[in-house]
Amino acid sequence: MKKRVDRKNIQILFNRIAGHYDFLNTFLSFGFEKRWRIQFAEMSVNGSERAILDVGVGTGKTLNALREKNPEAVIVGCDFSEKMLGKAQKKFSTAGFFVTGDFHELPFAPNSFDLVTGSFVLRSVENMSRFLSEIKRILRPGGRVAFLELTRPRNFLFFKLIYQPYLRFYLPAIGGLVSGRRESYQFLSDSIRGFDDPIDFKILMEKNGFDSVIIHPLMNGIVTIIYGENRPE
Ligand SMILES: C[S@@+](CC[C@H](N)C(=O)[O-])C[C@H]1O[C@@H](n2cnc3c(N)ncnc32)[C@H](O)[C@@H]1O
Repeated sequence: MKKRVDRKNIQILFNRIAGHYDFLNTFLSFGFEKRWRIQFAEMSVNGSERAILDVGVGTGKTLNALREKNPEAVIVGCDFSEKMLGKAQKKFSTAGFFVTGDFHELPFAPNSFDLVTGSFVLRSVENMSRFLSEIKRILRPGGRVAFLELTRPRNFLFFKLIYQPYLRFYLPAIGGLVSGRRESYQFLSDSIRGFDDPIDFKILMEKNGFDSVIIHPLMNGIVTIIYGENRPE
């Protein structure tokens, strides 16, 4: 059954694991996350953006890949975990702006950004319609949104024999061992298993004012990139 997302618990969780996040992220993805972020940046950034926002920026790994693709753009990261944001701020020094805030109530004026991105954040969203309408509000008309998310692999045998045991046992056990916070990694594992089908998410995006929504699975659907364009009203 899909678990209800509780924002307060998620904020506590990420403040707790911030110190181990980068290491575990690389280790638990067998190093693939770096390649996924680069592919995501290559497919999302076209070089014409003046301002890019990454929501749930975490320690800034994806924002860094985005900046490399368009060093001219103003780069902004937003997150409600001060500890995660502190790590990002250290990496970027003065090369980016970091704002503490909840992505259900983004602290930005309407029409502020040409591109809004979010990597591995959809599973933390408590109210998807609210989240999408906030992104739409701060995007310029015709601006783009892009998400990178862990999803269920499409191949049934691979899912049953490798991916499911990985999520059930390996992820919570190793994450828990290194961070001392098994319950945090249990949440991450549960949320991947419960994430909506990208097709359902596409329909929701269209309902919430986005056009030209494209779903692009990578590595048999272990991760998926989802794009949309802000439909001018
Ligand atoms: C799985 S991490 C992903 C971090 C980063 N985007 C990455 O790719 O490594 C999810 C991030 O979203 C943030 N987050 C979760 N819910 C949020 C909310 N309601 N508002 C703002 N940030 C949120 C967490 O604090 C955490 O840093």
